[in-house]
Amino acid sequence: MTHSSANAANAGTFMIGGDLAIHRLGFGAMRITGPGIWGPPADHDEAIRTLRRLPELGVNFIDTADAYGPDVSEWLIREALHPYPKGLMIATKGGLTRSGPDIWKPVGRPEYLLQQVHKSLRNLGVEQIDLWQLHRIDPKVPADEQFDAVRSFIDQKLIRHAGLSEVSVEDIKAASKFFDVATVQNRYNLVDRTSEDVLDYCTAHNIGFIPWFPLAAGDLAKPGSILDTMAGKYGAHPSQIALAWVLKRSPVMLPIPGTSKVAHLEQNVAAASIVLSDEDFAALDSEGRKAFQSTS
Ligand SMILES: NC(=O)c1ccc[n+]([C@@H]2O[C@H](COP(=O)([O-])OP(=O)(O)OC[C@H]3O[C@@H](n4cnc5c(N)ncnc54)[C@H](OP(=O)(O)O)[C@@H]3O)[C@@H](O)[C@H]2O)c1
Repeated sequence: MTHSSANAANAGTFMIGGDLAIHRLGFGAMRITGPGIWGPPADHDEAIRTLRRLPELGVNFIDTADAYGPDVSEWLIREALHPYPKGLMIATKGGLTRSGPDIWKPVGRPEYLLQQVHKSLRNLGVEQIDLWQLHRIDPKVPADEQFDAVRSFIDQKLIRHAGLSEVSVEDIKAASKFFDVATVQNRYNLVDRTSEDVLDYCTAHNIGFIPWFPLAAGDLAKPGSILDTMAGKYGAHPSQIALAWVLKRSPVMLPIPGTSKVAHLEQNVAAASIVLSDEDFAALDSEGRKAFQSTS
């Protein structure tokens, strides 16, 4: 699939929280940091170029978090894109602390979450965060206290919409008693179907479902595999077919493939133009489910 006509608009649109329109193919800004999602990226200038390419490719939804770097991802987004183009929506998260590379520990005390919201506002240079997501529900703190804190951020207009990450259907129902859950961000891809029930719930309730690690396809991407065959048929890369499958899976699906490289970004966005036939979608679905069952 060529990149010359790549545009995220080809993925269609979704209204986050019913009022913020985004193109369904977004960008995950976790990979513009150092190894272990710690410190600055290996190539600062390429990370900035990647971010600046987003509006040109029609990508108007960026996902980041205070914990990416920490702070580094939010700083780079501001450096590359502030003042932000009209219509660009930046989602961030709070609730995971960092004390070294690859170390992620939840802290859900309301005063900590509030501090992190204020830090993200400052890091991003905005007066209100479009979408703020509770990165994890902290098991050491009553969930209701964390949800109540999120509600208060909306009431104070610090954030416009709120979402959750790595949650069950029961978690979404519990949080919905405190605020309208605009999005859910769970790990999901062709071969990781753990969150199938959460995706179905989100689809039924028009909640944006943001699958992280959307490019993964495990052994299905190997030469001679079904993805490899489909890639040949559609003139695409296997990772583009994996992304096209994710996009077709549900109208509330908002994948955010992450990269630190312009070339990879262009390739990922080009996947928005691939329209899988219903037959090919079903064949991929079946193989993906089989691969998932064999590993779970
Ligand atoms: N809520 C959560 O708990 C959570 C957890 C993890 C991630 N996330 C979010 O989800 C986003 C996506 O997740 P992810 O980064 O784990 O998975 P991903 O987007 O599926 O994969 C990213 C990896 O694939 C590589 N890549 C990207 N495009 C490529 C291409 N066209 N060709 C070859 N390699 C390519 C990237 O390396 P290069 O830089 O070399 O391209 C990177 O190593 C993150 O950026 C973050 O915003 C959320």
